[in-house]
Amino acid sequence: MQLTMKEYLTSRKQLIDEILEQYIGSLTIPQNLKESMMYSVEAGGKRLRPILLMASFESYSEDVAITLSSAAALEMIHTYSLIHDDLPAMDDDDFRRGQPTNHKAFDEATAILAGDALLTYSFELIAKDSKLSPIQKAKLIMLLAEASGPKGMVAGQILDMQAEDKSISLTEMEQVHTLKTGELLRFAVIAGAYLGGATEEQMTHLKTFAYYLGLIFQVQDDILDITGDEEKLGKRVGSDEVNLKSTYPKLLGLDGAVEKKEWYVTKAKEALERADIAGSLLMDLTLFFSQRDH
Ligand code: IPE
Ligand code: IPE
Ligand code: MG
Ligand code: MG
Ligand code: MG
Repeated sequence: MQLTMKEYLTSRKQLIDEILEQYIGSLTIPQNLKESMMYSVEAGGKRLRPILLMASFESYSEDVAITLSSAAALEMIHTYSLIHDDLPAMDDDDFRRGQPTNHKAFDEATAILAGDALLTYSFELIAKDSKLSPIQKAKLIMLLAEASGPKGMVAGQILDMQAEDKSISLTEMEQVHTLKTGELLRFAVIAGAYLGGATEEQMTHLKTFAYYLGLIFQVQDDILDITGDEEKLGKRVGSDEVNLKSTYPKLLGLDGAVEKKEWYVTKAKEALERADIAGSLLMDLTLFFSQRDH
């Protein structure tokens, strides 16, 4: 039976919620550290990155069991990045995933350490997954370190802060967004396809696809920071304006940002056609990413 997109997302989210809970639940560690890690992980994001990783895998293969550690690791790194992103020294936000941010529910030191713990534990999960070969482990760990580290998400976060209160060009903004948001999404696409057995040529087109997907995701995040519903988003709107962030709507206007997003969708679709998987779940997910309201 063919699942609708909504049913697919719900069932995948449920699976990811379960494995995250198992991975963190099984830790024997100081109680408040565990509570703080669990708090942010359980607050329940949309789980789009692990879902994307699995969908990318499923474009080439079937049994997703082999993707579970990478999918959980990716969501933990994403969650750590949000805990730190919300800290007073960064975006200083009080709400996330419909609840007080980690440093509001606990304290700043605990929030910083919960983030650190999620980051490092994610690599341990992959290293210890008996379903993966030593070569697969090394490759996944390398890809994840690149995507999240000083050449990836962290670089994007620092460039994003440096761009506060300044006008930057569209090209510069695309670079910030590609790093701060795109790199983790790119890991999802590439790691899934790698485990699924995609060819080198397909991989090249998937990298182009992931590049546009990252931009689609962040334009929509910027648009929602203006037009979104706080209740649905689970975070405050207007945070970018307060922090004088460089965003698509600020640079291109709201209509211009929407037009740009449509153009990125066209480019993403072209890349999927070249990778011979235009009819796959990845296309549906792209449309979902571009039209999401939370
Ligand atoms: C928000 O990501 C932060 C960005 C990188 C723009 P999501 O919108 O995927 O957040 P959750 O995981 O669903 O909370
Ligand atoms: C966050 O970007 C990106 C990372 C955490 C890597 P934003 O600062 O735009 O995300 P929100 O709007 O707080 O979710
Ligand atoms: Mg930020
Ligand atoms: Mg933020
Ligand atoms: Mg934002």
